[in-house]
Amino acid sequence: MIILCILFFSLVPKKSLGAVDPYFQACSARKTCGDGQAIRFPFYIQDKQNSSCGYPGFNLSCNNNGHPTILISNNNYTIHEIFYQNETLRVSNSAFSNPNSSCIPFINSISLPGSRFDLAPNQTNIFFFYNCSSSVHESWPSEFYPSCYGESDTVLALSGQDPKLQISNVSMECKSSVVAPVEAYGGGIGESLRNGFVLKWKASNCSICEDSGGNCGFDSTIYHFKCFCLDRPHAWDCTNTTLHEYLPGQFFSQEISLSFW
Ligand SMILES: *[C@@H]1O[C@H](CO)[C@@H](O)[C@H](O)[C@H]1NC(C)=O
Ligand SMILES: *[C@@H]1O[C@H](CO)[C@@H](O)[C@H](O)[C@H]1NC(C)=O
Ligand SMILES: *[C@@H]1O[C@H](CO)[C@@H](O)[C@H](O)[C@H]1NC(C)=O
Ligand SMILES: *[C@@H]1O[C@H](CO)[C@@H](O)[C@H](O)[C@H]1NC(C)=O
Ligand SMILES: *[C@@H]1O[C@H](CO)[C@@H](O)[C@H](O)[C@H]1NC(C)=O
Ligand SMILES: *[C@@H]1O[C@H](CO)[C@@H](O)[C@H](O)[C@H]1NC(C)=O
Ligand SMILES: *[C@@H]1O[C@H](CO)[C@@H](O)[C@H](O)[C@H]1NC(C)=O
Ligand SMILES: *[C@@H]1O[C@H](CO)[C@@H](O)[C@H](O)[C@H]1NC(C)=O
Ligand SMILES: *[C@@H]1O[C@H](CO)[C@@H](O)[C@H](O)[C@H]1NC(C)=O
Ligand SMILES: *[C@@H]1O[C@H](CO)[C@@H](O)[C@H](O)[C@H]1NC(C)=O
Repeated sequence: MIILCILFFSLVPKKSLGAVDPYFQACSARKTCGDGQAIRFPFYIQDKQNSSCGYPGFNLSCNNNGHPTILISNNNYTIHEIFYQNETLRVSNSAFSNPNSSCIPFINSISLPGSRFDLAPNQTNIFFFYNCSSSVHESWPSEFYPSCYGESDTVLALSGQDPKLQISNVSMECKSSVVAPVEAYGGGIGESLRNGFVLKWKASNCSICEDSGGNCGFDSTIYHFKCFCLDRPHAWDCTNTTLHEYLPGQFFSQEISLSFW
């Protein structure tokens, strides 16, 4: 009976004691990197917010300009704007961020689709060709830009719509090529690259929890979405109060003990 009592009291929500759930509290604080943009679920600033407040893989850092950055296929992307209502964000490769430099850095292609992000519809591409033969140089000298990695090197940059891409020997005549998505091609290569492109993210939809007064989060021990409410963590929203909403595992041992007794 003593064991049963202990179990019983461990199951009584902390609400009855008037305590606010620590996860609810931790995830109530809205943070920004300095640019004014509120960072919330599924994103979290890993040095400023508890990882339980975001979804795995949506950890952000802040750069020196006060913008959030995210690592995608081991490259830093600067986040310009997050559209929570349609789960999209506009990013650009941080290597393109310096508005004063007119050189093209060597970048890696972004590898999408992945488990976290897909490219949003209606994006276009810019193709970079590195180490091209002199015959390509002579054909289209105005399409070459200085490179950032070697003073004498130049990079061929073509928009995805450029008919020159159809000429098959461009890729043959250059040693490597990279594709960079852009939202729109206009105002010059540098501006298009700095403006970036739009991604759609894949994580739990937060609105059911948020609309019920909760803070969305994630329980890494059961690897599942959690809705942190004033009283305690719930499975999806703050309204349901039965034990059965808990996923198998969390109160498994207690449930077994109770039914045994
Ligand atoms: C997140 O917050 C919870 C509740 O306050 C705390 O127990 C946990 O240690 C925190 N985790 C990190 C990584 O700060
Ligand atoms: C990404 O940016 C962060 C913050 O600016 C920096 O600490 C980190 O070294 C960068 N990582 C890579 C792979 O460039
Ligand atoms: C996010 O977390 C991963 C794994 O811990 C880490 O490698 C990466 O650098 C973090 N991303 C950012 C933008 O800090
Ligand atoms: C999230 O769920 C709400 C309510 O079910 C719905 O109205 C909304 O469209 C969903 N958001 C997205 C981006 O799917
Ligand atoms: C998402 O919402 C923003 C702001 O309302 C809008 O500008 C943008 O076009 C939308 N994106 C998509 C892919 O629907
Ligand atoms: C760009 O150049 C301007 C004027 O020379 C300078 O004030 C600014 O700090 C530079 N910005 C960066 C990012 O280097
Ligand atoms: C994509 O472009 C087409 C044609 O311009 C347009 O009809 C459609 O609404 C666009 N889709 C999005 C998500 O912006
Ligand atoms: C260009 O070629 C040089 C010499 O072969 C090589 O060292 C360099 O890595 C190449 N650069 C690129 C971006 O492929
Ligand atoms: C492509 O190949 C043809 C035939 O080999 C050659 O005449 C032409 O100059 C090449 N074009 C470029 C841009 O190298
Ligand atoms: C919450 O409980 C109500 C009534 O029992 C039920 O209809 C609803 O589906 C539950 N919601 C979730 C997210 O479990």
